[in-house]
Amino acid sequence: MIRIIITGNYSDMSRKAANIISAQITLKPDSVLGLATGSTPIGTYERLIEQYKDGDLDFSAIHTVNLDEYQGLTRDNDQSYYHFMNEHLFRHVNIDLNNTNIPDGTQTDTEKECERYNNVISNMGGIDMQLLGLGQNGHIGFNEPADTFSGGTHLVALTQSTIDANARFFKSIDEVPKFSYTMGIGQIMSARKILVVVNGKAKAEILKKLMCEPVNPMVPASILQFHPDVVIIADKEAASCL
Ligand code: F6R
Repeated sequence: MIRIIITGNYSDMSRKAANIISAQITLKPDSVLGLATGSTPIGTYERLIEQYKDGDLDFSAIHTVNLDEYQGLTRDNDQSYYHFMNEHLFRHVNIDLNNTNIPDGTQTDTEKECERYNNVISNMGGIDMQLLGLGQNGHIGFNEPADTFSGGTHLVALTQSTIDANARFFKSIDEVPKFSYTMGIGQIMSARKILVVVNGKAKAEILKKLMCEPVNPMVPASILQFHPDVVIIADKEAASCL
């Protein structure tokens, strides 16, 4: 079941998302949180950091598992998702870095890395709450439009539209990674709760498809219609086609 909350702007969206995550942490201090990168959740992380600094949140027993990581970028590359998570959340709160997990983008043995990451997730007992952003082509994690829905962690060839969308973060389009490790749709769907943050006009069409069109692997996020507990927080621009 999908519940949608429409907010006035990005800042309201971020505050509401952070409040839901902080309720999860308060109710279950040893939660496993599935985390996302990208521009959308940055404000949510900023709010969580504020709540931590105000003494309202304790991350000491929290475990995290990230959705994805580019293949070929080292951890110290400022475009790696490892770097992103440290910059935007981990280094600002009392999380134990040993309890944080991101696919290893430097691992070239794809099968080995996917198996390792699948084990990480299953050994944690699954994900209590998964935070997602929404790709303009309907991807979640880096599960791109395809003929079927994926199951576990796998390596994906990013589509041209995703490469183009990511180009803004790199000096030239040639530097944009072409492959990424990503959690599979099956793993995302196994999360007990899913929280999606969406903002901006550019996401309005795809949000409508996610919510209103028949479930279809060409719009990977449409699978969320089959999940029992999804909350989407959208700003009014993203919700403008609904
Ligand atoms: C990030 C991720 C992606 C992004 C999506 C939206 O870990 O898995 O699915 O959530 O590409 O990105 P932004 O928020 O930059 O529009």
